[in-house]
Amino acid sequence: MKSSIWIIDFGSQYTQLITRKFRELGFTSELMTVEDGLERLKVEKPQAIVLSGGPQSVFEDRTDYSPFFSDEKLPVLGICYGMQIMGQYFGGKVEKGVQGEYGLAKLKCVSGFMIPHCPTESDVWMSHSDHVSTIPEKFKLILQSENGLTAGIKHEYRPILGLQFHPEVHHTIHGKDILSFFLNNVAALKSDWSSKTMMENCLEEVTKIKGSKVLCAFSGGVDSLVAATLVQKIIGKDLYCFFVNNGLLRPQDLHTIKMLQEKTSLNIEIIDATDIFLDALKEDKDPEHKRKTIGKTFIEVFENKVHEFEKNHGIKFDYLLQGTLYPDVIESISPHKKGGKSVTIKSHHNVGGLPERMKLKLLEPLRYLFKDEVRAMGLSLGLERDWVFRHPFPGPGIGVRVLGQLSKDSIRKVQESDQILFEELKSHQLYDSTWQAFTVLLPVKTVGVKGDGRAYEEVIALRMVNSQDGMTASVTELPWSFLTRVSSRICNEVKGVTRVVYDITSKPPGTIEWE
Ligand code: XMP
Repeated sequence: MKSSIWIIDFGSQYTQLITRKFRELGFTSELMTVEDGLERLKVEKPQAIVLSGGPQSVFEDRTDYSPFFSDEKLPVLGICYGMQIMGQYFGGKVEKGVQGEYGLAKLKCVSGFMIPHCPTESDVWMSHSDHVSTIPEKFKLILQSENGLTAGIKHEYRPILGLQFHPEVHHTIHGKDILSFFLNNVAALKSDWSSKTMMENCLEEVTKIKGSKVLCAFSGGVDSLVAATLVQKIIGKDLYCFFVNNGLLRPQDLHTIKMLQEKTSLNIEIIDATDIFLDALKEDKDPEHKRKTIGKTFIEVFENKVHEFEKNHGIKFDYLLQGTLYPDVIESISPHKKGGKSVTIKSHHNVGGLPERMKLKLLEPLRYLFKDEVRAMGLSLGLERDWVFRHPFPGPGIGVRVLGQLSKDSIRKVQESDQILFEELKSHQLYDSTWQAFTVLLPVKTVGVKGDGRAYEEVIALRMVNSQDGMTASVTELPWSFLTRVSSRICNEVKGVTRVVYDITSKPPGTIEWE
């Protein structure tokens, strides 16, 4: 997103969160690499810049960062590594840490300094080894950690603030107040983001393509539903939604699609491709192979259907509508992705390459929004709460919830057990207490007793996690009576299952899905 607040990404794992927190405070910001920031400063004038944290040490970094500091009027916030660069540039001293500070630390305001709405002592999140040991001239020490290290500095008359800790991380209790102090008090910026401007921007973008034929690979999830509803508001019948049933869906997914067909004016066509997918997957055991096969088959099925539709109806699609959100956009421009060395844990992008193959232009009206903003937009577009607050469901669906080889029977076991879990969450009013909930079929047989006989059948694992964005997760603590009820129903009602276990692994080290 083009914005006049630039966030220069030095590679900290928390940089995205700065954008997120600024947005909550009513300010847009633009994330960019250090190289892009230095280059653009030659010709552009931002209103403020933020130098993020990063894994480097100023002792190994020879880059000339003076352009970030040469304009006396430009407000600068340095966070962690950003503050160390600032400290060094202005003539202070940075020292190598012996022990470092990692995790929660106590912060104290010094010399009577106050941040609005912030107590003089509060908890903050630290993650550093080096630190500014001598404060540069013309800077004041404003915050100190309990170990006596410099935690915050402020220039005497220029709009410059340095913070050793991470105000963007939610463990920093008053982080938002501290960021607000920079934006409103130090930099004196004017807020430029509200839910009204958010909706107006999205609608404006869609209005530009009025008269075009738009195709949507509709999943019924929050993102594609909100994107389609928004686009339909402007272009009406020129939007066509195709939903592919890959046979790896839960009962609730098909139910939702049928209900949306009835209750909304979206033009949704269901393509039943169950047999094609199961046939394509019959040899696959490995999770990544399964993902690739599912992605490839989806593209083939979708493409064939669309070509057939275009031929039969004498139309040509111009755009492919996708519900891409801002975290995906940020991820794709992060320095790790740009030639970095990050390891692929799972290849989540199921249908990458579809627009190029089909020679369609991309329409991504939600690409500057975060999930909760998309949900808010869905509600203001008149969508029902239940549709907008559905849990996430991965593209490969049950394909990665039957561990190893898939069969019709193993898919049935997950479908039936998942439906029980879903019904119980709803009836116990616990659906909104967890971020994602599902069942997994383990390829393990265990002994049990059913009636008076011996059973030798498979195991279902329950997975329920709390998370904000799926990047990290903790196990949802649910009432024992609820868990035992789900377990008893699954063992009684799902043929071929004798045992239910509850996965209590957080992410990391476990991932949310088992495959
Ligand atoms: P993991 O298992 O990576 O999951 O901890 C994080 C979130 O991503 C979802 N997920 C996927 N979504 N395609 C998707 O569209 C995939 O291949 C995929 N794998 C995992 C998962 O359900 C969770 O919400």
